[in-house]
Amino acid sequence: MAATILQGKEVAASIRAELAEEVNELKKQGLTPGLTVVLVGDDPASHSYVRGKEKGCAEVGIRSEIILKDAATTEAELVGIIEELNQNPNVHGILVQLPLPAHISETAIIEAIHPSKDVDGFHPISVGNMVIGNKTLLPCTPHGVIELIKRTGTEIAGKHAVVIGRSNIVGKPVALLLQQENATVTMCHSRTQNLQEFTQKADILVVATGKPHMIGKEHVKPGAVVIDVGVNRIESGKLVGDVKFDEVQEVASYLTPVPGGVGPMTITMLLKNTVLAAKAQAGL
Ligand code: GUN
Repeated sequence: MAATILQGKEVAASIRAELAEEVNELKKQGLTPGLTVVLVGDDPASHSYVRGKEKGCAEVGIRSEIILKDAATTEAELVGIIEELNQNPNVHGILVQLPLPAHISETAIIEAIHPSKDVDGFHPISVGNMVIGNKTLLPCTPHGVIELIKRTGTEIAGKHAVVIGRSNIVGKPVALLLQQENATVTMCHSRTQNLQEFTQKADILVVATGKPHMIGKEHVKPGAVVIDVGVNRIESGKLVGDVKFDEVQEVASYLTPVPGGVGPMTITMLLKNTVLAAKAQAGL
């Protein structure tokens, strides 16, 4: 039977509607959640992502501000901007769009953001709290992946989840969050031998490799939930995932499309984190 297509766009829209209501209530109590995005340089993809974040904020009523800096901005200037934002009570979330120009250390910038305003969930304190299982701002894409799986009605506990990819931004945190949901988790990566032996055992398969169309139906256990985190622009200019959508659709029970699957969930989780950060800073 063909897989049900997991429309992240629709799930994201319903979560945004819930957030809009919550923001409306917070505004009545005098609290307007605020997000500041800092963008350095003129990478067109980054500009497009930032516009998406601005639009998302407007949709749910979050006050947003974009600080644009040219590519020659120094690391010290950027740290100075972040320190001001850390002190600004109207700014509840700070996001510095990555990648940064090569002369700026991403680690130094991430560490300059106060953890209470770290809506990306990238600060080592946020990561450490996530690992321990403390309440914290979770990284947006991994959190979006978990929400999508839950919305299928799939019970994660006890299932075998296989994650392909071990990046700090996706693979590692997705594996950890799945484990916290009581899945049995296997992590695979570029050096894994006999990948198919692992992926064929997966009830839940999360693919985050950045390699277009690397996963075919021979990798997938019939009835598996398959989440494709890949966004790859191929020569034709088309955006494709890491999964061969048409053939995996024949065997999976649920499958995310690219675009329109995980992507819309990422921004939605950023909006959710901004609301959570605002409430925590206001003591609500
Ligand atoms: N660039 C691409 N994805 C992301 C993200 O999730 N956060 C930040 N800060 N930059 C990005």
